[in-house]
Amino acid sequence: MGIRDNIIDEIKSRCNIVDVIGRHVLLKKTGSNYKGVCPFHNEKTPSFVVSDTKQIFTCFGCGATGDVLEFVQRYNNLDFPGAIEKLCDEYGIEMKYSSFQTERDRTALYEINREAAAFFYRAFFNNPNPGYDYMKKRGLEPEILRKFGIGYADEEWDSLYQYFMKKGTDLQILVELGLISQSKGKNFDKYRNRIIFPIINTRGKVIGFGGRILGAGEPKYLNSPESAIFQKKNNLYGLNLTRQDINKEKYVILVEGYMDVISLYQHGIRNVSASLGTALTEKQAEMMKRYSDNVVLAYDADEAGQAAALRGLDILHKVGCKVKVMHISDGKDPDDFVKNKGKEEFLKLVKNAMPFADYKIYLLKQRLDLDTTEGSVEFLQETAKILGELSPVEAEIYIKKIARETNISEGAIRLEINVNNNSENIKKYDTVPVRDTGKESQSARTDPGFGTMLEKNLIKLMLLKSSYVNRIKPYDWIFQSTSAFKIYDIIKSVYKADEEIDMKKVEDSLDTADNRLLQDIMENIHLADKEEQVFRDCIQSINENISAEREQELIRLISILDDEKDRDKIEALTIEIIKIQKGKTKDR
Ligand code: GTP
Ligand code: MN
Repeated sequence: MGIRDNIIDEIKSRCNIVDVIGRHVLLKKTGSNYKGVCPFHNEKTPSFVVSDTKQIFTCFGCGATGDVLEFVQRYNNLDFPGAIEKLCDEYGIEMKYSSFQTERDRTALYEINREAAAFFYRAFFNNPNPGYDYMKKRGLEPEILRKFGIGYADEEWDSLYQYFMKKGTDLQILVELGLISQSKGKNFDKYRNRIIFPIINTRGKVIGFGGRILGAGEPKYLNSPESAIFQKKNNLYGLNLTRQDINKEKYVILVEGYMDVISLYQHGIRNVSASLGTALTEKQAEMMKRYSDNVVLAYDADEAGQAAALRGLDILHKVGCKVKVMHISDGKDPDDFVKNKGKEEFLKLVKNAMPFADYKIYLLKQRLDLDTTEGSVEFLQETAKILGELSPVEAEIYIKKIARETNISEGAIRLEINVNNNSENIKKYDTVPVRDTGKESQSARTDPGFGTMLEKNLIKLMLLKSSYVNRIKPYDWIFQSTSAFKIYDIIKSVYKADEEIDMKKVEDSLDTADNRLLQDIMENIHLADKEEQVFRDCIQSINENISAEREQELIRLISILDDEKDRDKIEALTIEIIKIQKGKTKDR
């Protein structure tokens, strides 16, 4: 075929089937799967299921099934190479070729790695040796070490070399795989006097090795070089053994080191994995997400570990994982901790792990002096950026919490978030020609007891798509007219996640006057399939109102304060007013 297996691997690790299919088929999450209307036959009730964990689709109606490449082929009427080309093109995957192009060559590489792993494994388990003693001293049990295929590379210069030469193995391949080094015309083993950690991909192939020196020495770890079958940034350590546990536990603990993985595993914490001696990459994050999008980072307690955690946090958040950071309170790394304190204590730390936003806000608080105006303003700005990335419901919880813990008001935080959001929205929606319902919704109340346009639009949104209920909740104080508030209240009480609002229940719970408003909304509010835009417009108009109110409040506050004594406060408030006014000019 000429197209390398490598690229197929790459496509499968980069192009999540849920994303690829989700662009053509409206998918709804049901349990761990996604469901939609099958694009390959005519149906009304969805029987087309996409599995995120298995990365396959299946239609229970027509029997269509396959992986992401199969989908792209069928959906776009392409042949196999055509589908590969399309996905590579869309996901920016280079269709590069290396010296090992054919399937046969790659099989040979895997096979040589497998033989080398077996060689190291025998050296570790069959006869007494310093490697075995070392691991035993570190408290690891043979049964676990066997599971991970741990090996030992002895002190000789050419044990592995001689072994392969007797078998007639191609020397060039041994060099390419980083098993043999060449210097001054001599060949010698790259790994000497080291514990060997074979790195095995989720298909069970040995793709590379990590080798730890016995005791002290440099380098502490020696990893295989990149090769046709080994790309560090694309793989994670331990997943071959732990992915089922990750699936079962519904979260993964990501650690820094090989030893951490094995040690936690031995202590009964099996939903673990590690990046391969490098900072976590986006590809690894995406790969991780296929098994679980709940990630707990358990990095070393030292400064380097914490800095790595911060980077990992952003990368995982970026690909859409829910990330938490765990603090190893006693000891230098997870291995150290679990060995001394045991499983239960470790799980307590997991339970207390800080969610993404908490952790970032915690770091800000450490860095900034909230007793100064500059400190507070920067804290406010940075916090707003963090909260702006959360869902409105989540953001609302943090707003309250931060207001409680600092002397920054809820209003100021909301305002700052809105300033950020609005400038983004303007960018995003500038090109939308008609903003049909948006401006109307700001209009004055037609009948104060009956419902404003804003209230009506929001109610219509919730009735059309129940997922808006949670998104509208943070703004629920907007429902000021009696009937509108009652309708909102009923909708909220009949709302069930993942189910549409039961109209009959709503109607039955309302009296005649309130039902009149409901009828009015059903018949006269038309969102013309622009739900999301209408929602944004509504929120924007709410925010504009908040801003205006806050501006008045600030002006009032300043007028009360003492020019001399409250200089700093006045300065801070003035900065806030300027921000509001800047926000307004951005709106125009
Ligand atoms: P132990 O010291 O045996 O407990 O190992 P550890 O897993 O705790 O190692 P450490 O925290 O020092 O490093 C974490 C990970 O970073 C290791 O598992 C390696 O993947 C990687 N690493 C550490 N030192 C080196 C090194 O010298 N070279 C390379 N390439 N990687 C390293
Ligand atoms: Mn360690």
